[in-house]
Amino acid sequence: MAALAEDVLKLHCCAILQLDSDGRVLGGNAGVAAVLGYTIEEIRGQPFSLLFSAADAQRGVAEQAVARTLEQGIEQLSLAMVRSDGVRFRASAMLERVFDPAGSRVLVLIRDITEIFQTQKRVREAQEIALRAQRLDAVGKLTLGLSHDFNNLLSVIGNSLDMLSLRRSGDESVRRILDIAHRAVERGTQLTRQMLAFGRGQTLVPQLSRVDDLLTASLELYRRVCGETIELEIELAADLPPISVDVGQLEAALLNLLSNSRDAMHGVGKVLVCARLETIIVPSGGGERGPFVSICVGDSGPGIQAEIQESVFEPFFTTKSVGDGSGLGLSQVYGFAAQSGGTAMIGTSPLGGAAVSLYFPVAA
Ligand SMILES: Nc1ncnc2c1ncn2[C@@H]1O[C@H](COP(=O)(O)OP(=O)(O)O)[C@@H](O)[C@H]1O
Ligand SMILES: [Mg+2]
Repeated sequence: MAALAEDVLKLHCCAILQLDSDGRVLGGNAGVAAVLGYTIEEIRGQPFSLLFSAADAQRGVAEQAVARTLEQGIEQLSLAMVRSDGVRFRASAMLERVFDPAGSRVLVLIRDITEIFQTQKRVREAQEIALRAQRLDAVGKLTLGLSHDFNNLLSVIGNSLDMLSLRRSGDESVRRILDIAHRAVERGTQLTRQMLAFGRGQTLVPQLSRVDDLLTASLELYRRVCGETIELEIELAADLPPISVDVGQLEAALLNLLSNSRDAMHGVGKVLVCARLETIIVPSGGGERGPFVSICVGDSGPGIQAEIQESVFEPFFTTKSVGDGSGLGLSQVYGFAAQSGGTAMIGTSPLGGAAVSLYFPVAA
């Protein structure tokens, strides 16, 4: 290691290893102990792959990197490495070919970049969440405009049907037709109400409420929605602070989530509803952090594929056949949570299936 200045060899923030052309360790600096946990004596003579995860070692990642360095002169890796105590860390490794009278050597400079890596990951995730929220906001505005217009049209149609019903009440066949038209107007009104919810345009009546009380009081209703072949469990954190929420809409949102779980599991499986206190970033709320009371509905179903996770909150997005799904359930859930000052997120349940979490700010 004559090529390296004395002070570099003493550096503790990065490990420097010298490998022979077969990838065996010839020596290293003081940083080897600090970064990798090995003494020079322990690591001398060991293969470079000793520092790699079992999967990477098996795939020959270390040998390939050494071979490429000998061929091209330089190589850069960013991957998980394993310390002597078995702890994994995110490593940045710079490999460089050096010529020694005894033959070609490879100098490896390894830095632990776990913290930088995780910060970058968090920033990336926050950006993705913000972008998704912006898209939902835009669709929300469009939906809000549409739902107001349709609502007005449906009111006119409904009123006209009412007037016709009064005049024609004696004629049985006409009454049947009017009934069908009435039902269609009711269904249309319900759909526009859900669209209004997604566009954050519904009139909410928030009440100071305790989530644990609400969930416990409605447990029987939830059981009925799930059906007998679904096991429903509720897990409530102790001392949950109160939230200010429209209780009727919260109930509607939870029933939407439970019926989605029931559909996803084809009526057989497990559902876990949890409530706890959490700190998260809310993109639609200007990036604020909690604390939030979260209510999560998770199931043992097949989960939501990564490709469609971005779309499930959008109105009319459904994977169900015509007549089975309107695609407005999760958009009601999202719009309601956002209008309540929180948000909704998709995740994975400890039961293996999908988990949808609602977040509500703790009441002031
Ligand atoms: N618990 C769940 N497990 C698997 N997929 C789900 C779950 N909840 C929602 N989804 C997916 O999200 C889509 C949209 O849900 P939703 O907005 O409630 O509309 P709908 O239930 O009418 O299809 C569903 O069609 C389904 O593909
Ligand atoms: Mg649904």
